[in-house]
Amino acid sequence: MADDYDLPKGELMKGKRGVVTGVANHQSIAWGIASQLAAQGADLAFLHLPGMERRVEPLAASLGVKCVAPADVTDDDSMDAAFAAVAKTFGTIDFFVHAIAFANKDELKGSFVDNTTREGFLRALNISAFSFVDCARRASALMPNGGSIVTMTYLGAERAIPNYNTMGVAKAALEAAVRYAARDLGPREIRVNAISAGAMRTLSLAGISGGRGMLAQGRTMSAMKADTSMEGVAGAALWLLSDLGRSTTGEVVHVDAGFHIMGLPDDMGGGEG
Ligand SMILES: NC(=O)c1ccc[n+]([C@@H]2O[C@H](COP(=O)([O-])OP(=O)(O)OC[C@H]3O[C@@H](n4cnc5c(N)ncnc54)[C@H](O)[C@@H]3O)[C@@H](O)[C@H]2O)c1
Repeated sequence: MADDYDLPKGELMKGKRGVVTGVANHQSIAWGIASQLAAQGADLAFLHLPGMERRVEPLAASLGVKCVAPADVTDDDSMDAAFAAVAKTFGTIDFFVHAIAFANKDELKGSFVDNTTREGFLRALNISAFSFVDCARRASALMPNGGSIVTMTYLGAERAIPNYNTMGVAKAALEAAVRYAARDLGPREIRVNAISAGAMRTLSLAGISGGRGMLAQGRTMSAMKADTSMEGVAGAALWLLSDLGRSTTGEVVHVDAGFHIMGLPDDMGGGEG
């Protein structure tokens, strides 16, 4: 399964242990990152949403993952148990990948102003942004020798993207949380960064109204006229999670084939002048 993607092999992560959250299936961004980390010799633990065992356990086994535990980020007891399992397996860790987000489907379409409910807003912020703060606290407690934490974000944090709505607000909170966590944890040699990936075909994207359009527009409006690749995202994660990234913290790294730098589309219509 690790050969799903064309990932460089080596020993960059040899002797390093860490946790990957957010694997739901072989399309998950977390799976691409985990495959890259394993291909570079890392020892891994997977924390997954309870109920996903049948899908996640075979994937974990194919990478030789040492610890697989259910963890619902909205449930403190389940988080306590999951981090206890990681501590029991590894003692200390060197890296942590947060690749978790959720918003109600009804809030990922149409008018942001009209469709955003208090319950839906708080749920999206809880699962997609507060969970990162909680994970950073728990993970950093297992990093006495320093470490690296990476989360996943999208351009909808910085710009108003159709249908992304509440999730954009949650991602803005997430990106701010990355900077505050980086400031807090920096003196302990724990780096904290986010990867802002372009649209990719995953379960999460399928939940957004017009998700396919986000993919197509992301491609045609990108500088490279290309899709964002799993290999590119996993490569950026490897850089940030390994010692190669040793001086980078508090950063939001765009890995989107240059989508975020573009102003107007090439074909603006309206003719010359
Ligand atoms: N797919 C894209 O286009 C894209 C682009 C940029 C950023 N991202 C971000 O990447 C991250 C991973 O998403 P993905 O696209 O790989 O989709 P995905 O659906 O494979 O991953 C999302 C994960 O969140 C988990 N999750 C949801 N609620 C949870 C909860 N209460 N407790 C624990 N886990 C929970 C799901 O089980 C799933 O594994 C997300 O933060 C997403 O916003 C995705």
